[in-house]
Amino acid sequence: MQKNDARKQWEGAAPGWAKWEATVASWVEPATTAMLTLADIGSGARVLDLASGAGSQTLSAARRVGAQGHVVASDISDTMLQHVRDNARAAGLDNVSTLTGAAEDLDLGGQAFDAVICRLGLMLFAEPDKALAAARAALRPGGKIAVVVFTTPAGNAFMAKPMQILLRHAGKTPPPAGKPGIFSLGAPGVLERLFTESGYADVEQRTMTVPLRMASAAQALEMMREAFGAYRAVVSDQPKSVQTAAWAEVEQMLKGMESATGFEASAELLVAAATRPA
Ligand SMILES: C[S@@+](CC[C@H](N)C(=O)[O-])C[C@H]1O[C@@H](n2cnc3c(N)ncnc32)[C@H](O)[C@@H]1O
Repeated sequence: MQKNDARKQWEGAAPGWAKWEATVASWVEPATTAMLTLADIGSGARVLDLASGAGSQTLSAARRVGAQGHVVASDISDTMLQHVRDNARAAGLDNVSTLTGAAEDLDLGGQAFDAVICRLGLMLFAEPDKALAAARAALRPGGKIAVVVFTTPAGNAFMAKPMQILLRHAGKTPPPAGKPGIFSLGAPGVLERLFTESGYADVEQRTMTVPLRMASAAQALEMMREAFGAYRAVVSDQPKSVQTAAWAEVEQMLKGMESATGFEASAELLVAAATRPA
């Protein structure tokens, strides 16, 4: 996907993403904590958050770095960043600023950030290698990068099955290896190789399963339809009748994950970190 298409896709999803961000944040919270810890983010650190979305992990980082530190939230969608600014203000945090742009195009060489983070973004970038090179230039020698991505379709039925249904209805195929997609960096060795080829050292990785509990399958469907930009994009160019049929089948599939106590699913995430060599 080209960057202009990605910008449009995420501008469209931004209101939905902001609406569901608290749900997503509590869902992936253990992976967020691991990402911040692996990136060595502590008091006084200067942090760059790539593909920040509405910024829940930006705010977590801002609380960790405290008044002596600073977090720059960056995203391709300025509407997302407006939410970051509003949320930081509402939380009383004045150590957050924003920077609009594709991660691949950021020119922050010599800024000497202590850490770069990117939660659930890198796998969607058109050129993740270019983004990692830009992040490396933005880091001080010895600075750390930590990211969270989905692993594989096998470990992520909640994410994979709806995507398969939408693709089938739209007559499309999953992105081939090497192209952006929700699972593009999750297979064993892929992310590690990308880090190493982008000039990073000391790659560390953890796989984590994070449970998602919601009131009902209908609520899970609503979140997916409103907030998940990559899912919306698969059917957004299709006739209304195709979109309706596709989402109806997704709803049926999600109902299979509902029980008397509510909707229950999980995601398998890979948290990976690496260092800019001195
Ligand atoms: C799945 S959301 C994750 C948002 C946030 N990191 C979180 O975990 O809540 C993906 C984000 O990536 C952003 N994005 C997509 N392509 C991008 C690119 N090339 N450069 C920067 N941001 C991008 C989108 O605008 C969106 O906010």
